[in-house]
Amino acid sequence: MDSPRVHALIPAAGRGTRYGGAVLKQYLPICGKAVLAHSIRAFQFHPLIAGITVILSEDDRWFESAVGPLSTVVETVIGGDTRAQSVRNGLRHIMENHPGSDWVLVHDAARPCLSPGCLDRLLEQGMESPDGAILAIPVGDTLKCEGDKGEIATTVDRFRLWAAQTPQLFQVEALAEAIDAAQLKGAELTDESSAMEYSGASPKLVMGSAANIKITHPGDLAMAEAWLQRNEQS
Ligand code: CTP
Ligand code: MG
Repeated sequence: MDSPRVHALIPAAGRGTRYGGAVLKQYLPICGKAVLAHSIRAFQFHPLIAGITVILSEDDRWFESAVGPLSTVVETVIGGDTRAQSVRNGLRHIMENHPGSDWVLVHDAARPCLSPGCLDRLLEQGMESPDGAILAIPVGDTLKCEGDKGEIATTVDRFRLWAAQTPQLFQVEALAEAIDAAQLKGAELTDESSAMEYSGASPKLVMGSAANIKITHPGDLAMAEAWLQRNEQS
């Protein structure tokens, strides 16, 4: 039997409003290359990954110079105003141009520290789950819910709480249908798994890593850089 075909989809069409600054966070330099270049590198040369598509904003002028010549073919597609719209555009591109793709791995452009071990674990466990799977880590801190005046209103029980990461792995058509259905209902989606959950699916939780951080606020970049440096030295 042929091995399943997996396509990596990297949304990079965001504006980085929480990070701020003159350069979009996906293009900030880290350990000698752009954040996005690190995020792409995690998927290059993987034997199961048949293609990579990066989703860019309409006015992106930085991709080629920031990412440089890539030794595997990386396609690009234009995103939308929300992450879900961006991902939906990417899925349409995959279905039209790579109709043999079985699975899609959606991975934040702003998550440059994905390790080969985490990726392999997700692929191995996720492809056994018809509803797909995501990387996530159990919440370690005590969680507080804020009241109206910045005071603690309540402590949230962290039992069974996990923090979602990417990549998230789903069957291509199932994810496209789930996003369409969730958007019709007006659901706010911050990850792809939420769309699947809306349609009644139960994606599997696969152990990620604290190193697989998303660059969201200033300060996160230095942490990611430290992880990458440590990895490159080992
Ligand atoms: N993203 C996208 N299209 C959008 C919004 C987000 O492709 N319309 C991408 C971002 O580029 C990022 C990933 O989704 O790689 C995760 O989103 P997030 O960390 O929220 O990035 P931004 O939306 O850029 O940041 P912010 O929410 O602070 O504006
Ligand atoms: Mg965002």
